Amino acid sequence: MGQVIVFCSGKGGTGKTSMCALIAMGLAQRGKRVLVIDACPGMRCMDIVFGAEAQAIYSWADVMEERCSYSDAVIHAKVDILGAPWNRNDTDGAGMKDITNHFRSEYDHILIDAAPGLELSALFGAADSAIVVIEPDMMSVRIADKVCATARRTLRDINLLVNRYDHRAVTEGSAVSIDVIEELIAYPLTGIVPQTRQIKNMIRLRQLSGKAGDIIKLIAGRIDGEVTQLTPVGKLASFKDR
Ligand SMILES: Nc1ncnc2c1ncn2[C@@H]1O[C@H](COP(=O)(O)OP(=O)(O)OP(=O)(O)O)[C@@H](O)[C@H]1O
Ligand SMILES: [Mg+2]
Repeated sequence: MGQVIVFCSGKGGTGKTSMCALIAMGLAQRGKRVLVIDACPGMRCMDIVFGAEAQAIYSWADVMEERCSYSDAVIHAKVDILGAPWNRNDTDGAGMKDITNHFRSEYDHILIDAAPGLELSALFGAADSAIVVIEPDMMSVRIADKVCATARRTLRDINLLVNRYDHRAVTEGSAVSIDVIEELIAYPLTGIVPQTRQIKNMIRLRQLSGKAGDIIKLIAGRIDGEVTQLTPVGKLASFKDR
């Protein structure tokens, strides 16, 4: 049975879509069957991320409103995608749960890319776990804490992913350290991804590569059940391309 994970943050722009897409590629590279559900109708960009705009005809709303079958709505690209609607902003909780339950037998991993904001209950109700993507700044940490509290009402398995980590900014005191984040939000860390142009490049090429690609592969491995050590923050100091 496939596991369903919601990528969320509360704050906008923390890297939910990038992390969700790259980790999906990492899981596919491990031979896993992966479905990404675009639950961000505002941006509605997962088909673009995977270069599959031409196939983006139906969305999960079309499935819920019975305008197409489950299989008709799936876009086949590097990973499979269920697109977001252009004319609907809410995420119907019962409908989304039906969708994830339907696809659990077909996929090993179903990753949901949430919209920014705190209206996440419907997605949490359709999932098994959440990955809260945090930028190392106090605003992101504070809202992430609130997201974790909302997730906790429904989910037991909540993990943090610190993205855009800039070791120099931490040593200069302009970014929050991993220790402080762990002290403020008491959930396990599943990865620390540095601030680097490599993220944009990997998204553009739809290919994991370089040191940042290795970090993403490790996170994908952890999601897939592999037990590995987190990359020590000292090692992330070598990412100098801000
Ligand atoms: N680790 C990183 N290093 C450098 N740039 C990054 C990193 N992660 C994401 N970005 C960039 O930050 C921007 C926002 O990323 P993304 O769209 O993934 O965030 P998001 O949380 O999904 O945003 P939204 O809340 O609007 O949905 C993009 O331009 C992306 O390329
Ligand atoms: Mg996004």
